[in-house]
Amino acid sequence: MLTIKDIQLAEKRVLIRVDLNVPLDEQQNITDDTRIRAILPTVNYALDESARVIITSHMGRPKGKVVPELSMAPVAKRLSRLLKKDVKLAPDCIGEEVEEMVRAMQPGDVILLENLRFHPEETDNDDEFAKKLAGLCDVYVNDAFAVAHRKNASVVAITHHLETCVAGFLLNGELSYFRNAMENPARPLVAIIGGAKVSSKLGALENMLMHCNKFVIGGAMANTFLKSVDYDVGKSMVENELLWEARSLMKKAAQNGIAFYIPVDAVVADRFDAKAETKIVPIREVPPEWMIMDIGPATALLYSEVLASAKTIVWNGPMGVFEMDAFSRGTMSMVNYVANSYALTIVGGGDTDVAIHRAGESHRITYISTGGGAFLALMEGKTLPAVSALEEAAERIGQL
Ligand code: 3PG
Repeated sequence: MLTIKDIQLAEKRVLIRVDLNVPLDEQQNITDDTRIRAILPTVNYALDESARVIITSHMGRPKGKVVPELSMAPVAKRLSRLLKKDVKLAPDCIGEEVEEMVRAMQPGDVILLENLRFHPEETDNDDEFAKKLAGLCDVYVNDAFAVAHRKNASVVAITHHLETCVAGFLLNGELSYFRNAMENPARPLVAIIGGAKVSSKLGALENMLMHCNKFVIGGAMANTFLKSVDYDVGKSMVENELLWEARSLMKKAAQNGIAFYIPVDAVVADRFDAKAETKIVPIREVPPEWMIMDIGPATALLYSEVLASAKTIVWNGPMGVFEMDAFSRGTMSMVNYVANSYALTIVGGGDTDVAIHRAGESHRITYISTGGGAFLALMEGKTLPAVSALEEAAERIGQL
């Protein structure tokens, strides 16, 4: 895949598609600017090369309508502060007014286009819309890893309308870290998979079976695995329709010599409530009317031993209901083990990311992905549509 380093940018109008879908509070204040900071290397590089920089992103899911609360305005302000230069917000992402603003740009100027998803054509991967976006620039750079799994106009169709389509540093970096960890990992490679549902991680579990040496399972999805091998999990959340799949995954792991760890004890509660009555029980003794909310201390200790010998760790999904303090210890102890590990550590997924930031340990993780769904798609072994589009664009002009 070609990257921004492979092309000339001087004086050119460079459209950089990024993912600045950042969390906002009710007053539209940005509560986490990680995704904005993550694009700075690409934007600064383009500015250092004297490009005219046009930045474009979606925000939230406005469903093709103008939703003022999902304007890119707060992002323009924060980006201005981080770049230490004026970032003008365009009133739209296409149209005459925007074209006029772009015509007036000088090398070194930065414009942020308004939310792409105010137009339904963006998520429809509409070709006409893509052509209009493409008309704003000479060169297209995709640095939006977090939306690379979506077949959207600004990441797929747009590449049919421009000769020069390349990846930015963030997209390229995310793909390289993941590919290296999967294709040629230092072993043992341990996957930590948590979160609420087996159904949302089934594809990832199946694909990771072909790469990993050990699995460590937590979160409510562990309940389905436990029940599938006849543990009584009381009133815990379980996906009964997936018991067969869960059991056969464990069987497949055993046949392939892959260690598959499920909890041996749990923090249980008498109801799903931060103030519920709680106790720690061995996994065989979950009371019939109670529910599992977190892994217990014996499980955390067991998992720490598994991680101690790991050379590569890939982690997606929390170990329990960590949003509630009473059930956060399992996830926080995993943060601690992963942060202290000598292994190459790769973490992806919104909740896992939040847990690591909350613990103040993000600087001790080798790589934290900016993607949620896109990271999961990589774990599932899928080819990301935006990445294929860039590769096809490069092939079309014989640059590969
Ligand atoms: C994300 O936050 O994961 C990306 O911005 C993609 O958002 P989407 O799930 O609304 O397409």
